[in-house]
Amino acid sequence: MALRSTSSESKAGKRRRSAQYRRARIRHFLFTTGPNRLSRGWLVRKHHDNPVIARELEITMPRWPAAFDGLRIAHISDLHFGELMPLDRALGIVELIAAAQPDMVCNTGDLVDLDCCGVAPLAQAIGHIKAPCGNFFVPGNHDELDAPDQVNRLVNESGTTVLEDEICVIRRGEHELRVGGIGWARTPAHCQSRIDRTLGKSESVDLLLSHNPKAFDHAAERDVSLVLSGHTHGGQIARRNRPSANLAIAHRRSAGLYEMGASRLFVTTGAGAWFPVRVNCPAEVAFLTIRRAGLHSH
Ligand SMILES: [Fe+2]
Repeated sequence: MALRSTSSESKAGKRRRSAQYRRARIRHFLFTTGPNRLSRGWLVRKHHDNPVIARELEITMPRWPAAFDGLRIAHISDLHFGELMPLDRALGIVELIAAAQPDMVCNTGDLVDLDCCGVAPLAQAIGHIKAPCGNFFVPGNHDELDAPDQVNRLVNESGTTVLEDEICVIRRGEHELRVGGIGWARTPAHCQSRIDRTLGKSESVDLLLSHNPKAFDHAAERDVSLVLSGHTHGGQIARRNRPSANLAIAHRRSAGLYEMGASRLFVTTGAGAWFPVRVNCPAEVAFLTIRRAGLHSH
């Protein structure tokens, strides 16, 4: 498929993106399409036999706004719509989330795997999940491969708020919950500059969405209470009962909950995959209940 260009992109940026797209297609052939053909379709069929699990987790932190104590967030990430995540499987996951009636939906990116063609019904289904405190999306690296503007537009038109270096304030009476989101950033330094651009000089947010968990160090420095990330897929292959011992070796924080001072990071292992194997690392949707620690003593 031809790459559609984005209006604000430089020529060098366009060349870089088309090289990344080509590499991603080759990787997809080597790790998914090729092996699946050799196995006569067995590999992808077997991959789809594994259900997506609903993971419940309570996260406690001292600085969370008291008015939002007990907030239930459905955290979804890395659907990778495409060959390994056909529409019916993706819509089943959306139904699972809608049935849980979360207060907020946070989608931390990689909605599409390669091409965004055909993703509109999925974006619409996600956008239609009723969540009184908001339905948010930040783009991942895969969302930028084909047509990043189009992915963001489809998501936005579906009723989900795209936070690309932006902040949204949720109000309950006179109380506020500040939610921020940053665009795709590959390195800690790039994450830092996006966070600083989003927060300005002296502000912070209660909740920050970043596809890349490498945003956590600087987010904690900037007093963000909770960061939600994806991207790692938990390595897709992990040691039994040791989710952090996995193939995502480029990441210090690749699966589950992490703490630094008063800040917390949750990295979901994601709902989809970029190759059709998961071992000791099931695909998941995370349902997070956020608690303010020591609330009773204040
Ligand atoms: Fe991903």
